[in-house]
Amino acid sequence: MIKQTTFLKILVLVGIVQLLISCNSTEPVIKHVSVQGKSVDAIVELMTLEEKVGQMTQAERRYLIDEKDIKDLHLGSLLSGGGSTPETNTPSSWADMLDRFQGLAAESRLGIPLMYGIDAVHGHNNVVGATIFPHNVALGATGNPDLVQEIAHITAKEVRATGINWTFDPCVANSRDERWGRAYESYGEDPTLIAALGSAQVAGYQGASLNSQDAIAACTKHYIGDGAPTWSTGENGKIDRGDARISEAELRALHLPPYQAAIEAGTATIMASYNSWNGTKLHGHKYLMTDLLKGELGFQGFIISDWAGIDEIPGDYKSDIIQSINAGVDMVMVPGDTSKGGSTYREFISKLIQAVNEGSIEMSRIDDAVTRILNVKENMGLLDAPYSNDRALLPTVGSPEHRAVARRAVRESIVMLKNENTLPLSKDLSTVVVAGRGADNVGMQCGGWTISWQGGMGDITSGTTILDGVQASVSPSTQVIHSADGSQASSADAVIVVVGEAPYAEMHGDDEDLALSQEDMAVLNTVIETGKPMVVVLLSGRPMIVTELLKDTDAFLAAWWLGTEGNGIADVIFGDYAPTGKLSVTWPTDMSQIPINVGDDDYSPLFPVGYGLSY
Ligand code: BGC
Ligand code: BGC
Repeated sequence: MIKQTTFLKILVLVGIVQLLISCNSTEPVIKHVSVQGKSVDAIVELMTLEEKVGQMTQAERRYLIDEKDIKDLHLGSLLSGGGSTPETNTPSSWADMLDRFQGLAAESRLGIPLMYGIDAVHGHNNVVGATIFPHNVALGATGNPDLVQEIAHITAKEVRATGINWTFDPCVANSRDERWGRAYESYGEDPTLIAALGSAQVAGYQGASLNSQDAIAACTKHYIGDGAPTWSTGENGKIDRGDARISEAELRALHLPPYQAAIEAGTATIMASYNSWNGTKLHGHKYLMTDLLKGELGFQGFIISDWAGIDEIPGDYKSDIIQSINAGVDMVMVPGDTSKGGSTYREFISKLIQAVNEGSIEMSRIDDAVTRILNVKENMGLLDAPYSNDRALLPTVGSPEHRAVARRAVRESIVMLKNENTLPLSKDLSTVVVAGRGADNVGMQCGGWTISWQGGMGDITSGTTILDGVQASVSPSTQVIHSADGSQASSADAVIVVVGEAPYAEMHGDDEDLALSQEDMAVLNTVIETGKPMVVVLLSGRPMIVTELLKDTDAFLAAWWLGTEGNGIADVIFGDYAPTGKLSVTWPTDMSQIPINVGDDDYSPLFPVGYGLSY
């Protein structure tokens, strides 16, 4: 038995050792201050310059130098860029990752939770197993704001299920040129339609109230004129991120109305655009961001810059920071991909602090930015409760109920461009051949911004292909043959050929030649030679040049990039749904007509805006 005095001596010794260890540790002792119940003004009052600048910084999860920076640098936000996923890409590992990040944010002095942004632009599209909806160009063809709102609400649920609270969507670009690699992110070319669908999407994401359990913050983008640049063959790329050489009257008439509508719908945030307006980069444009957006339109939320967007302003990085913040950017997306010459968020933070200390940026501008950011966080309910650890919504990710709505969206977005007494096909034909590289290809039918930034071909996530849909629709006695190259077409009563564009995103999709690929044309020609009734399904992000091809086809469906629910196509082909989709974009006859838009003086496209047949 140990004597009591010896026991006491041991206790004292242990205490001393512990004290020594804690004195030696490099961890500073943080005195936590609770922000709960405090007004935003009172919180801003409490903050050091470092804490304010941290709130204004958004880092990319992939390029975090040390996860502890979340706490040590008081980061206000993180993002996942396209394809920036946790190692195992399942909904629950996303939620685990988010909880870990929020846990680190909670350890900072003020413990202000993070806003975590992601491009959920057609469903929660970075997550394997999530419901993927048609892209905006397809939703434009539905002309149905209620449906669009429902889609956004479902997306919000799936996003929140993974612990994420902010989507970089809706994109309310007015795409003026089919050659643009982001044309599919646009609802169309009519500002009234874009405004209606964009604001419906904001309402769907943000729910009845921003702080409800299944709401996320919206980010209306890209402000402003992203779809307006002129095609250029210069070294600055072709059209994406280019220069919009248009008058202010045109800018206001064609590109501003969706922002007005999004602000009325309460959009929490707006993203600045990469493009220039008459030679000046938007990210440094004080008149457009501060005077027009925040002043004239009364936008109360905050402006976030696009991915390394401030870097595009002429001058060195410090001057980019000064110019963009003074012009009205409130939070800066600093991906930190140094392999592409980008700066790290650590450099950003130290340069912004320097700029303030030197007087190049007024403290009042910093306080305004931080107040805007914290107001959004407060409206989201984040300051009172960072909603991590709530796994209740996880089972809804990719659920049959959500996929049913996506299937409805597919049906409603299909535009029937031609039908010579061929559609709907009977479900009792004895043999149906399904051909083309898009026939059994979830990746191709989803398009860009799916699982990875650029998207990809093949089985990238779970879904129903067009072939699956056909098989499920026909009668048990019908034989469905999958013949990718069309070589078995001669045995068919009808042939469905699925062709179009392989996925792409942003500048990678800029294209001067919107003809079908040789591979697609070879399959089509094989089928045409058989003389069998042929239905063409075009999977694409935009109109393609099909003037000659149409002459040889019996029926033609523009199905866009429709997402994971390919059975919506079969619903239209076999007559379960009579097509209602109408073009929201002009369909050009040939490349020389581009750019062509409704309202042009000599408007004689292959198909005008509003075109679409039914049974
Ligand atoms: C795109 C934005 C996107 C951001 C984050 C940028 O390259 O222009 O639309 O939200 O990346 O992924
Ligand atoms: C990211 C995208 C981002 C793009 C910008 C990619 O590496 O994944 O999200 O939009 O870079 O260039």
